Amino acid sequence: MHFKDDKNVLEAMDYIRQENEKYFSRTNKKKFASIITYGCQMNVNDSEKLWGMLEYMGYSATEDRDKADLIIYNTCCVREHAEERVYGNIGALASLKHKKPELIIGICGCMMQQDGMADDMIKRFPFVDLIFGTHNLYCFPKLLLKAMESSSSVVEIFDDDGPIVENMPISRAKGVSAWVTIMYGCNNFCSYCIVPYVRGREKSRRHNDILAEIKDIAQSGYKEITLLGQNVNSYGKDLDENYLFSDLLFDIEKIDGIERVRFMTSHPKDLSDELIEAMASCKKVCEHLHLPVQSGSNNILKRMNRNYTKEQYLELIAKVRRAIPDIAISTDIIVGFPGETEDDFNETLDLIETVQFDSAFTFMYSPRKGTLAANMKEQIDLDVKKRRLNRLIELQNRITGQKNSVFKDKIVEVLVEGTSKNDPDYLSGRTRTNKLVNFRGSNELIGKLTQVKITNPKCWTLEGKAIN
Ligand code: 5AD
Ligand code: SF4
Repeated sequence: MHFKDDKNVLEAMDYIRQENEKYFSRTNKKKFASIITYGCQMNVNDSEKLWGMLEYMGYSATEDRDKADLIIYNTCCVREHAEERVYGNIGALASLKHKKPELIIGICGCMMQQDGMADDMIKRFPFVDLIFGTHNLYCFPKLLLKAMESSSSVVEIFDDDGPIVENMPISRAKGVSAWVTIMYGCNNFCSYCIVPYVRGREKSRRHNDILAEIKDIAQSGYKEITLLGQNVNSYGKDLDENYLFSDLLFDIEKIDGIERVRFMTSHPKDLSDELIEAMASCKKVCEHLHLPVQSGSNNILKRMNRNYTKEQYLELIAKVRRAIPDIAISTDIIVGFPGETEDDFNETLDLIETVQFDSAFTFMYSPRKGTLAANMKEQIDLDVKKRRLNRLIELQNRITGQKNSVFKDKIVEVLVEGTSKNDPDYLSGRTRTNKLVNFRGSNELIGKLTQVKITNPKCWTLEGKAIN
């Protein structure tokens, strides 16, 4: 299904655009919007689609909430913490809405796809004008128009994921790097995870649509793409195209202008030999693999429904390193999963020592309503979870520091993203292995690949100097 197929959406976009033009000629003022995005890169990419529609309708971006005519929260529900932040921030908008009743407040994203959540939000925050979910993101202009014309809240959530909508307008973050969602949903039902419930089953985009989008991205001057999906390794298996993730990598390799290709996330149970071979032979595919392990204990892995053992994971890592010796490997780890004993946790620490990950995202287990693990009896106390998390972070920091120290005096290729956020005298970019490098060099290097000599490796970043 193409974006253009929904006449009502297009009509609503044109109508709002005309109204905003009239407003401008009357008042000489533009309309401003603000989107606050929580959660993963897929949400970031969804917000870029919302921005595409908003820009078409004549909205300009602002980070100043007092100036905004429209505020949208694109929410995440993967952990409780993300939800709490949404509650806090939306609650804080009550006084703003009171002062400026014409302000439109919308909430969308994964959190809204949970059973009963939309009704609950309206009860808690009756001043919210608009609620929609992940499956009907493309209907946003139609719902926005309804909300503008109605005195009560507009709520529309599709339970079913429906067809993939292609060719939506998009306004990407400026820079060198672009996100490309290649598939939606997840079939894995890891017992702790809410994603399959809120994003639906795996659904791949047709490869021609993906390749056309990437060509367009290359023509717009982006140098790097990151392919997104909950489990990119099962890309294509739901289609009748006989075309898998490795085929996609080989075809992207041929697109001029794209210099680097990244992807996430990979599930260890689906990382095939074909994919490892494709990664090794495609020059543009970066030497970095994000391969969430979640736990180092077979008992916990089983209870998590991960479908691999610690031994199989270690064998996979060995295989990947044989094929791509300098590859950087990062992971996700959860501590305090229900029933995790001190021995189970020590097995996780052992696995981290053994693998020597370049970096790890570490999480305390957070019960998610409706998932299997939330109903398991042996929930772990918060203070135990915290203690385990701290030990894990301490260990991984030491390993990351040691791994980075090897870069002292080495020359690395960096794709320069811009000036450093913390120090405008420095430029900032990433190595192919996804390490952040801050370095001194001319601003002309922004947007380009350059060679940097590392002078001072730190725990989180590498510091250096451009050598050309
Ligand atoms: N609690 C803690 N961490 C979680 N993750 C997913 N669900 C939960 C949860 N309920 C983590 C996993 C996943 C990452 C994106 O978020 O490690 O890989
Ligand atoms: Fe969640 Fe597991 Fe799917 Fe990842 S693979 S999104 S952790 S259910």
